[in-house]
Amino acid sequence: MSAALASDSFPKTQTIASGDLTSDLSITGAELRHLLDLATDVKQNPTRYATALRYRYLSLLFEKPSLRTRLTFELAIKQLGGDAVASIGLIGDREPVKDIARNLDRWTNAIVARTFTQQTIEELAEWSSVPVINALSDLYHPCQSFADLQTIEEHFGALAGVKLCFVGDGNNVAHSLLLNGARLGMHVCVACPEGYEPNAQVLAQAAAFAQQSGGAVSVTNEAVDGVRNSQVVYTDVWTSMGQESEAEDRKKTFAPFQVNAGLMSAAAKDSVFLHCLPAKREQEVTDAVIESPQSLVFDQAENRLHAQKALLLMLLA
Ligand code: CP
Ligand code: NVA
Repeated sequence: MSAALASDSFPKTQTIASGDLTSDLSITGAELRHLLDLATDVKQNPTRYATALRYRYLSLLFEKPSLRTRLTFELAIKQLGGDAVASIGLIGDREPVKDIARNLDRWTNAIVARTFTQQTIEELAEWSSVPVINALSDLYHPCQSFADLQTIEEHFGALAGVKLCFVGDGNNVAHSLLLNGARLGMHVCVACPEGYEPNAQVLAQAAAFAQQSGGAVSVTNEAVDGVRNSQVVYTDVWTSMGQESEAEDRKKTFAPFQVNAGLMSAAAKDSVFLHCLPAKREQEVTDAVIESPQSLVFDQAENRLHAQKALLLMLLA
């Protein structure tokens, strides 16, 4: 059926060989480069792709809240000619994950899942015959980092050689930035309190990517050291979804890592501020910084739509 329905009015796109996006490791460096170029074309020429995924449907499974990811996936598939259905709540509570995967793959062409554990994403992919897309897990947030890289490249005209300092918790967002930034030649630094460093395996993989690309990765426990010479200062909430019981302790531990005007003044002269959102103002970032002309957070949020359209085209067109 798909061949008969395929539109030939849009340029042919490279596919993602692994067939899934369970993590940032599902995509090669060349595929990531293509995704960013395609995202730019989709942004500039949206109508060219308006029927590219006609009659394609997404299952959206969300175990945690979402504004940007859920709505941009819904909009992305609709603006490409398809549609989406959503189910909110714990995955695997009512029936095994492997059964959920084998229901959804009979009805829809891809499964987009936001989960507590990476294991749930891997299990969905193991049992599903259609692509599974990680819409955030405890370990990764690949779709976020695609939009982040698109935003940085739009602003600076390049990624290679740009230093980004992620200030805060070495979390899912930090992991995806480390992997994808390092792969495209950036210097990605994480400045975090002791004990909140990124996952050691992710760091080692990012360092290996950096060695190939001419990029770099580093970790420091001093916020000012990290942001020095950084063109991009990035932060995220101190308490991620699922860690709410630690929120009060984290407020104390992370206080020296607040991104405020003082910290921004230690960054490069042409620096910009990024945040995946939602932000807790006056915690990880001050209102003054997020509302300043240096802040690109809404460009970043917009690019979620374009980058995810590119991803869907690469997986489903
Ligand atoms: N940045 C991000 O993923 O936002 P949501 O949690 O609203 O999807
Ligand atoms: N690290 C955050 C990102 C939210 C988009 C979380 O996992 O809650």
